[in-house]
Amino acid sequence: MDTQAFFIMGVLPYMAVTVFVVGMIFRLRDWAKTPQPGKMTLFPAGDSTKKSVLSETFLFPSLFKGDKVLWSFAWLFHAMLALVFVGHIRVFTGLIDRMLMGAGMTPAHISTMSATLGGGAGIVLLATGLLLLFRRITQERVREISNIGDFFALLLLVAIIFTGDLMRFGSHFELEQTRAWARSLVTFSPIVVNNGMFQVHLLLAMLLIIYIPFSKIMHFGGIFFTQALIKRR
Ligand code: HEM
Repeated sequence: MDTQAFFIMGVLPYMAVTVFVVGMIFRLRDWAKTPQPGKMTLFPAGDSTKKSVLSETFLFPSLFKGDKVLWSFAWLFHAMLALVFVGHIRVFTGLIDRMLMGAGMTPAHISTMSATLGGGAGIVLLATGLLLLFRRITQERVREISNIGDFFALLLLVAIIFTGDLMRFGSHFELEQTRAWARSLVTFSPIVVNNGMFQVHLLLAMLLIIYIPFSKIMHFGGIFFTQALIKRR
């Protein structure tokens, strides 16, 4: 058996999940233990709390007020990531297909919808990812506050998106194969599927998962703490 392929498909995913879970726990525990000397609040006074958190999570109003151009790239980027995330549940399991068929859609309709939404999201993600990278490189003010880790995270994301798009629009990958691979992982009897681009996409995605707890991508975990700060007001 190809050792490299087995490592990427049959060993690395377990390592990535372990590092991710342990890393997240440590990072959140550190944040929880950090002393907060003042009664800080992230939002101006107002009566809504849950609504503020929900709107901050899904619509980024503070960023909208601060920088509308950045807001439009960042919002699109995150919205498309969410769409691709849902699409990947379809890549790994038959759940979404079963739900859509239950709602009356035919396999052909589902395939067309997936190609349109997944393909569209993949292109918009690549374009907005590149724009965010371009902004970080060209704007002096942003470059000054960026470190090597910020560039690494964005480059890694762009590379994952690019290889995903290459599969979507090029070699394509049989969903039955990804589902068999995902099943083999959860039953702890990993199999190797032969597809070079899938291997590269997966390797990069696993690196991202391992890197998340140590990077600023962890900002999504901050929402729990934001909520705590708002509630203390
Ligand atoms: C366990 C990790 C992952 C696996 C096994 C995986 C697998 C796949 C596969 C098989 C495709 C091709 C679908 C097709 O040809 O119809 C794909 C596409 C894609 N992937 Fe991934 N992927 C993973 C993680 C990620 C991550 C973390 C991102 C983004 C940050 C991502 C972004 C994309 C994009 C943008 C596409 C093209 C658009 C689409 O088909 O939705 N993938 N992925």
